[in-house]
Order: sequence, then structure tokens, then C-alpha cells
Amino acid sequence: MSENIDSILHEDRQFPPSDTFVKQAEIKAADLQALYDFAEKDYEGFWEQQARDYLDWHVPFKSVLDSSNAPHFKWFKDGEINVSYNCIDRHLTLHADKTAIIFEGENGDVMEITYDVLHKAVCQFANALKANGIRKGDRVVIYMPMTAEAVVAMQACARIGAVHSVVFGGFSAESLKDRIEDAGAKMLITADGGFRGGKIVELKAAADKALASGCPTIEKVVVLMRTNHGVKMKTGRDAWWHEMIVGCDIVCEPEWVESEHPLFLLYTSGSTGKPKGIQHSSGGYLLGAATTMNWVFDIREDDVYWCTADVGWITGHSYVTYGPLAAGGTMLIYEGAPTVPDGGRFWKLIQDHKVTTFYTAPTAIRALMKLGDDIPNKYDLSSLRLLGTVGEPINPEAWMWYHKVIGQEKCPIVDTWWQTETGANMIAPVPGVVATKPGSCTRALPGIDADVVDKAGNPITQANAGGFLVIKKPWPSMLRTIWGDDKRYVDTYWGEFNNRYYVAGDSVRKDADGYFWIMGRIDDVLNVSGHRLGTMEVESALVAHERVAEAAVVGRPDEIKGEAIFAYVVLRGARPKGGVDETLTKELRAWVSEQIGPIAKPDDIRYADNLPKTRSGKIMRRLLRSIAKGEAITSDTSTLENESILEQLQGKA
Ligand code: WT7
Repeated sequence: MSENIDSILHEDRQFPPSDTFVKQAEIKAADLQALYDFAEKDYEGFWEQQARDYLDWHVPFKSVLDSSNAPHFKWFKDGEINVSYNCIDRHLTLHADKTAIIFEGENGDVMEITYDVLHKAVCQFANALKANGIRKGDRVVIYMPMTAEAVVAMQACARIGAVHSVVFGGFSAESLKDRIEDAGAKMLITADGGFRGGKIVELKAAADKALASGCPTIEKVVVLMRTNHGVKMKTGRDAWWHEMIVGCDIVCEPEWVESEHPLFLLYTSGSTGKPKGIQHSSGGYLLGAATTMNWVFDIREDDVYWCTADVGWITGHSYVTYGPLAAGGTMLIYEGAPTVPDGGRFWKLIQDHKVTTFYTAPTAIRALMKLGDDIPNKYDLSSLRLLGTVGEPINPEAWMWYHKVIGQEKCPIVDTWWQTETGANMIAPVPGVVATKPGSCTRALPGIDADVVDKAGNPITQANAGGFLVIKKPWPSMLRTIWGDDKRYVDTYWGEFNNRYYVAGDSVRKDADGYFWIMGRIDDVLNVSGHRLGTMEVESALVAHERVAEAAVVGRPDEIKGEAIFAYVVLRGARPKGGVDETLTKELRAWVSEQIGPIAKPDDIRYADNLPKTRSGKIMRRLLRSIAKGEAITSDTSTLENESILEQLQGKA
């Protein structure tokens, strides 16, 4: 059996940035080289310099990195800072009247908020939180629709040193309860409802249900009136946002906190068991968000930046609530679904608000690509200058579509690899410098020491040999711990190689140019006749076939080969009747064999209308694995958008 993970995907296309893009880019080749050289020569000095350049400190730090209790690292620990001050107040001198947020609701209502107005709203709400007993260190759970007020609520917590924990509005009452209880939150901020997919999301009803079944630490519930559809309020416990702020001052001195003070918790499901409360710091975290807004998103004075992520995910923290504001940018927030009233909504938003920078997930790109080119072609997308992706490897097919149809071949695409745990982009192109390759997140950013290692923890130097993705040095925006469970933090992220490296849990290879290619999660690696294959490459080959829109592959035990490849396929257009199409199945098997070799040929192919995905758009592979084995379904399928696909996946319909 080979030790490394074998790579079978061949992708040789390269896209250097256009001269026009290079000319206006903030970071040029020489600047980037200087950053790499600095970090190489003096790692701590490099981050010290960035922290002084990008952030305003109330009390400047003397200590840069404290490794005395590794892997519980501390950054800038004797410095004092306030994140909300850095996102808002410091822009007021020059930019008070600049638009900070353009909000558009699903129903088309638009609201523009300047830095000055945002400042007043955040201060006033922060004072209301204080008046309701919230103090530095208290946990506040936010369960809201994707609105400007969600950003205000987060910023207000940051302003007074309260620790927010945003729970995605699509999560159930049960998930909300678990997260409130684990965090021991004192307050819940929610809304009567939100508009999504042409319906009202019943947030208050879910919140009531969660609180009725537990959550004894919650003292107060704040309710934003968004849908105004007549929800029940519990006297003494619940208060309307708009009533609560009456009489509260619009000035609120920021609470200066030590750099390591927790800014927020964000729960990730993890592959097994109870969700992990990923704990982030104040100074180090904000530094990651701020530097990457410049290095990766090349944010400029006149940009209209739009990241489609919900604030319920880390992307909505670093690249909605914190990064763009820390950079003094203008951003768009959209409340609803991409398909309301039709699949052109995103493109219409770009046209109407003259969006320059658009950052979304491959799953959204594939879904919109499936609807055909005619829809985006109806809109004027000429304001775009930079595109981005995040969340999973993007298959070259979708990358090319994004490049041609959306970017009109003039926008660089930044494929950003990072995690909830890393806080900010880690491996991503600097768009005015690095030539991109479809499907690769390119090179690690300055000050990020990423590498590929084998099972023994030794660096893999052979080009294209796959292994574990590790980060060899601590970095400022890294998670600090798992809330209330230091041991789980150490075991999960540092255990594999004896505390030497941060282990991301992804499999990856580096090509001859040193570009990183994520191959999938380590736990998902297939083992076919002694070859270890990442799921991503087989899926890419399938999706490259003209009739395939999406694919997921998993392993199923096989007596001869060890594992056989089981593929679930969503076609462009209709699913074959009863899920059977022998001719197409034969053709797809031959296609994969031709594209990447017979070893990767799927043994089984099953057609479905959709793939089962988590709320953040990740394919539920554990579920697919048990279906492939013919096991009964034990995972929680209650969050599936479309439960009826289960029968199709099982081959019963
Ligand atoms: C996992 C982290 C980071 C925000 C969204 C997801 C996968 C993320 C990429 C990318 C290939 C990617 C990895 C990673 N991933 N970005 N550009 N290329 N894979 O955050 O839920 O914490 O998931 O998402 O597997 O480990 P998350």
C-alpha cells in the first residue's frame, strides 16, 4: 500500500492576472516578496509589524507571541484593544459619511448605513445591552436573519467585551438549545422572523421552543421586529429591540480588553458527537481578518464588496462583520435565497449595487451554473473586478464557468482555503501577483507556514504526493481553545504529531510550482487496491462530463480492492426514470477511466435530484457512506432541505 495519497487529477491551465488588474492592485510582486522575506527572516517581527500597521491599540503590546503554555498560544497578550473601535470609530475622522453597509432584503427593501449611523446604532444597542446587565465576558447568543442588525448586535457585543455566539438561523430549536447551554449564555438576541426562500423563517418560535426545553442561564430575550407577523412575547423575559434602545445614549465608550479576551465562540458540528465551541481572541483574530482583506481581497476605497455568507458561519464573521469594516470598506448584505424570485437574483444584486468583489461558495456556483448561462448573461456584471470562493475544493469545471460567465475572463479568482478554526484565509492567491490554476488555492499567505507531511510527520517533498495539511507555526488568528474543553482542543488539532503541528484534517498535495491542491478530508480518503485517493479528484472528473451537475463519491468495503468507489450523481436536467440509466452509467465509468485512469472508475453510480448537504453546504459523506454500505440511516437527517432524496440515494425510488 502506498504511504502517501495518490493524485490523479491533471490540471495544467494557468491564469495570470491581467495587466489592468495588476496596475491597480494594492500588493505588487515586489511587495509580496518583501512580506515573505520578512516573515521568513523574523516571524514574530513580521506579525508585530502587521499588528501595528493594521490595528489601533489602546495600550500597545510589548509581547508578540507567548508559547510558554503551547499549544495554548497567546498573541499580543499585554496589549489592549477594542474590536468595534477598530471596525468603526477609527474611520469616523475621514469616512463618517461613507457607506458601510448596503442592505437588501429578500423582498427588495434596501437600506444604506454610513459609518456614522453604524457607530450610533452600535453604541446605542451596546448601551441597551449594558442596561440589561450584560458585562464583559458574558455570553450572548445571536440567532438572527441575515440583516444589518445582526452585524450591529455582534459589534455591540464586541464593544462592551461580551462574547457572542452566533447560531445560524437555519438551525433547529434543539441545536440552538445545545449551543446556548454549552456557552452558558445570559441573553438571546433573535428576531420575530426572517424572509428566506419566499417564506418566513420562524426564529422567535424556535427560540421559544429552545428556551422552553432548557437554557436556565438565559435572563433576557431581545427580539428584532423584521417580519412583523405577530409573535408572542413573554412578559419579563422578552423585549423588542426597538423598544429596548429607547432612551439609550448614542455614545458608548468602548471597553478596552486584553488582546486575548475572547471575541466570540462559534460552534462547528465536527464529524462526531457534540458541537465544538471554537473560541477566538480579539486582537489576533481581527489582525487575520484585516490583513487578508488587503492581501487577498485587495480592498480599495471605491469597492463594493459582497460576501454571500451568513453571519452564522465563520465566513460571515471574518468577511462580513469584521474584516470589511476593519478595512473601512463598503459591503453589501443580502438577506435571502439566491433563487428568489429566480436564479438571477445574485446577478441582479451585483448589477444594481455595482458590486466589485464577489465572494461565495462552490456549492452556490454549481447550483447557479446548472441553471444555464442565459440567466447571468441578462445582467450587467461589468462592475466586477475580483471573485472569490471558499468552503470546499472547487472543481475546475465550475471554476472555468465562474471565470468565463461571471468574471468575463477579466477577474482573478481567489480560491481561499481556511477553516472556522483558522479565523482567516490561510492559503490563497494574492490576486495581483499569483497566477491561478483552476481548483488550487495556490500558496500560503505571508506569515502562514503551511506544509504537507506524511504519516510520520515528515515533510513530503515529492511533487503531487498527497498527505496531511499542517500549519507548522502558530498564527495570530488561530482558535485559542474549544470552549470549556482544553483537552479536546489539544487532542483534535495537535494530537496527531505530538503537539508539533496544527493538523487541519484535510488531505492535500503540492504541485511542482508549490501550489496547494486540497484533496478532501483525511477521513474521507478512499483506499482502492492499495491506492489512496482523495474524493475531490474523482468528483471533479465526474463533474467535467457535460451531463453531470454535481457528484459525491465515497468508499464502500470491497473484498478484493479494499474499497470500491460509490458515486452519487446529480445530472443537469432530469434524473433518469427510477434512477436507472445503464447506458449513461457505462459512459460515465468510461469517462472517469479516460480522464484520470481506470483505478478511479466508480463501481456504482446512483442518480439523485440532490445531494444531502449540511446547512453550510458540505456534503454529508458519513450518511452517503452508510447508504453505500446498505446500512440503516443513523445520522441526523432532520436538517436536510429535501428529505425525499433519501429514497433516491438508497436506490428505492
Ligand atoms: C473546511 C473548513 C472557511 C470557511 C468555510 C468553511 C474545506 C474550506 C476550502 C477551499 C478546499 C476548502 C476544508 C476545510 N475548505 N475552504 N478553498 N478549498 N477546501 O469553514 O466549515 O470550518 O470548514 O472546509 O476541508 O478544512 P469550515
